[in-house]
Amino acid sequence: MITLTQRLLFVLSFISCMAMSMSMRHNTPIPPTTARLTDRFPRLVFDGAFSDLFGSQNIKKTSNGSQVSLMLDKTSGSGFKSNDAYYYGFFSAAIKLPMDYSAGVVVAFYMSNSEAYPHNHDEIDFELLGHEKRKEWALQTNVYGDGSTGIGREEKFFLWFDPTADFHEYSLIWNQHHIVFLVDNLPVREVNHSVAMARAYPSKPMSIYSTIWDGSQWATHGGKKPVNYKFGPFVASFKNFLVAGCAWNQTKAASSCTRSGQSGSLALDPIEGDEFVKLSAEQQRGMEWVRSKFMFYSYCNDLSRFPVLPPECKEGKH
Ligand SMILES: *[C@@H]1O[C@H](CO)[C@@H](O)[C@H](O)[C@H]1NC(C)=O
Ligand SMILES: *[C@@H]1O[C@H](CO)[C@@H](O)[C@H](O)[C@H]1NC(C)=O
Ligand SMILES: *[C@@H]1O[C@H](CO)[C@@H](O)[C@H](O)[C@H]1NC(C)=O
Repeated sequence: MITLTQRLLFVLSFISCMAMSMSMRHNTPIPPTTARLTDRFPRLVFDGAFSDLFGSQNIKKTSNGSQVSLMLDKTSGSGFKSNDAYYYGFFSAAIKLPMDYSAGVVVAFYMSNSEAYPHNHDEIDFELLGHEKRKEWALQTNVYGDGSTGIGREEKFFLWFDPTADFHEYSLIWNQHHIVFLVDNLPVREVNHSVAMARAYPSKPMSIYSTIWDGSQWATHGGKKPVNYKFGPFVASFKNFLVAGCAWNQTKAASSCTRSGQSGSLALDPIEGDEFVKLSAEQQRGMEWVRSKFMFYSYCNDLSRFPVLPPECKEGKH
């Protein structure tokens, strides 16, 4: 049952979203400065680190393999996958999104192990959702652990820049302490490895994926605006691949990724340093800036979907 108050709240949040997206068109806000984590790792080229996943005819490598474009046309989307799986680390790509009308188009940069663990997979997602108003792409983030697909832990954001005009960095910290989603080095979401998250915290090696696909069913206004191929093909470009993780391999795992004498379950964090273990005060302020101005959906505020909110929603601010 939806109460009158909930209805009113919904209408109010809708109006504030509209106002926010209208004001965004007129000025580009300047985000707070945070540590440039993406400067600390070497850039990889495609070959050696990644391989085509599907739609090879729609994948183009340029600049000597340091840049890759993925295309969606009437025949197919496309995607690539890391050659290795990783257990914890820092993972990043700079992405430039398709210009023009892009409703229904989804560009994803994510980690998953659904192929290795079809029934209890883990996943950490950046999903960029197209829009009929060109540059107004939305960013959706999500986390699944141990097959917890019954609970979608989505959070959605508007971006404070035009993601189709230039490349922007989308990065993930994933370690035993927390998962942090960063956009241009600004944390937008933190998921602590808390007791409340329990098995929903991703805790098995995952591969890195990037894909472009037709999300007509749900991506834009809940599916009301499907992909219109008149505006295609849709091209997303990727570069600045950063992969600083513990490469996981049944035979190498024991020595390179875990404390000696312990079995596969206790991985070492491949990246040391305070900024990876805990958000600094500056990173906290940056995250609050993004969340207060640009977050327009958090599952932790969705009482119509979760009459009893997932336990981790009691921690932190949403
Ligand atoms: C392209 O990459 C290869 C292998 O990384 C390197 O040996 C070669 O010098 C590069 N060529 C150019 C033009 O950058
Ligand atoms: C795992 O590591 C071993 C030893 O380094 C190597 O021979 C093997 O090819 C690797 N397997 C995969 C799937 O990467
Ligand atoms: C994560 O844990 C840290 C340290 O306990 C805390 O300061 C922070 O607010 C927590 N973040 C969230 C999103 O709950």
